[in-house]
Amino acid sequence: MRIYLIGFMGSGKSRLAKSVAAKTNLTYIDLDERIVAETGKSISDIFNTESENQFRLYEKKALHDTFKEHKAIVACGGGTPCFYDNIEQINTNGVSIYLKVPKGALFKRLAGSKKQRPLISGLTDTALMEFIDALLEERSSCYAKSKLTINALDLSATRLIDYLKENKVYLK
Ligand code: S3P
Repeated sequence: MRIYLIGFMGSGKSRLAKSVAAKTNLTYIDLDERIVAETGKSISDIFNTESENQFRLYEKKALHDTFKEHKAIVACGGGTPCFYDNIEQINTNGVSIYLKVPKGALFKRLAGSKKQRPLISGLTDTALMEFIDALLEERSSCYAKSKLTINALDLSATRLIDYLKENKVYLK
């Protein structure tokens, strides 16, 4: 059983994956954390001193490494399902869930955490809103390939676990 949480930056993937793992016997995996651990560099460093392309390769490798786990809940990066054949690989090897959050809420969350995120660091609030609009539009087709979609505004781990059960995804 492998569950993959996908969705835009700020949609709560890491928080929910961690919290579902604490309530079940699934192992928590965060792709960004794995990349940082393996490279010894922060995500921003990788973008700035290597390149986004190189980051996407590390991300693909970190994703493929999760296929060796038997029981895991994986917090993907916002772009993970949109590069290479990652979303097809995710769907072959596990169950993908798109955490859908309205633009306004994403903006509020991201406006306060620009620094850690290389794609938005340095953007003014107006530029951030435009960026979210454009990237969400661009990525909606890959997010739509997820097996399940849940409204993730104010979503709790308990509600997510119930939703998975309702959809016959048993976390055993
Ligand atoms: C990215 C999202 C980030 C991280 C990187 C690129 C993206 O992860 O992987 O900065 O392309 O949307 P979070 O969604 O966890 O912020």
